[in-house]
Amino acid sequence: MKIQMVDLKAQYHAIEDEIDAKIKEIIHSTHFIIGSNVAELEKEIAGYYNIKHAVAVASGTDALHLSILACGIGKGDEVITTPFTFIATAEAITYTGARPVFVDIDEKTFNIDVKRIEKAITKNTKAILPVHLFGLSADMEKVKELAVEYKLKIIEDCAQSFGAEYKGKKTGAFGNAGCFSFFPSKNLGCYGDGGMVIANDDYMAEKIRMLRNHGQKVRYYHSVIGYNSRLDEIQAGILRVKLKRIDEYNKKRRDNARLYTEKLKGSNIITPSEPDGYYHVFHQFSIRTSKRDSIQNSLTDAGIAFAIYYPVPLHLQESYKDLGYKKGDFPVSEAVASDIISLPMYPELTEAQIDEVCRVIKKI
Ligand SMILES: Cc1ncc(COP(=O)(O)O)c(C=O)c1O
Repeated sequence: MKIQMVDLKAQYHAIEDEIDAKIKEIIHSTHFIIGSNVAELEKEIAGYYNIKHAVAVASGTDALHLSILACGIGKGDEVITTPFTFIATAEAITYTGARPVFVDIDEKTFNIDVKRIEKAITKNTKAILPVHLFGLSADMEKVKELAVEYKLKIIEDCAQSFGAEYKGKKTGAFGNAGCFSFFPSKNLGCYGDGGMVIANDDYMAEKIRMLRNHGQKVRYYHSVIGYNSRLDEIQAGILRVKLKRIDEYNKKRRDNARLYTEKLKGSNIITPSEPDGYYHVFHQFSIRTSKRDSIQNSLTDAGIAFAIYYPVPLHLQESYKDLGYKKGDFPVSEAVASDIISLPMYPELTEAQIDEVCRVIKKI
């Protein structure tokens, strides 16, 4: 049975008429950049998060980059984050001239180990950038406590956590900015690149609005050097169709995660944890195993897709060798990188498919 990591076609078929009509409507309007669909999507997402502002941008990377800039962070500053994430998290810090300072992760949640943050704070630290990896929130209570104590900004990387919650509150709404990616395979994904920043602060939102559109508030009057980081109307239209269904999609992911967990019981596999008070949205279902190589071989033979998120933690990436970190600096991230494997996960995955994945794994 061939099983993909993500089956975007299955989702499209279920909403095909609505998506096609939306795209057609936008083509007929000939209004392609920052129009009514972007404005409505921003309103709808601000409503979903019960937050004052949502500003659409061109990608999740840009959402992070522009948010860090809007916090006034740049050369000589430090931003604390984890080395166990997609590289865009750290790149966005680097783009501003600031330095990413890594803190190891918790081995159960794969998120920043809040017990280790304080030791990494220096006089140059300006912000903490927690990543809600794989759809599970970081421990935001502790992050907030430290941010208040040391007067630091919080920029949340919510690229993988649309709809996730921590103690009844959605991720993205805890800090100065919540940054989302709408990359096609994300829980809420468009059909290209896209991103969004949410914020309560008027200044923050206005600054990002300016930065995303060449530094202008009034057309052709440029107050600062900005960027071209606009979400286009077609992507916004597609996202509006999917946003109506995001809670249902996330619920299905959770159901699938429960099935995986049940069916893998009794094996030596470590399945993802969901601490009390957290609402995991399972962007990925990532397991840990000492038999990763054999599992990879068997899944490949059976036609089942898998992925390694992430094989090399950021402190060991060639592109970041100038930061001066070395092997052994973040042992938990390194250990997880060596034994983690992500299994197929999407809302439309069937129980029969999950059965098959677990059967192949349990044989080993
Ligand atoms: C954790 C994390 N941060 C940032 C990004 C960057 O998002 P994008 O690909 O939309 O630029 C991604 C997505 O790929 C991600 O997974």
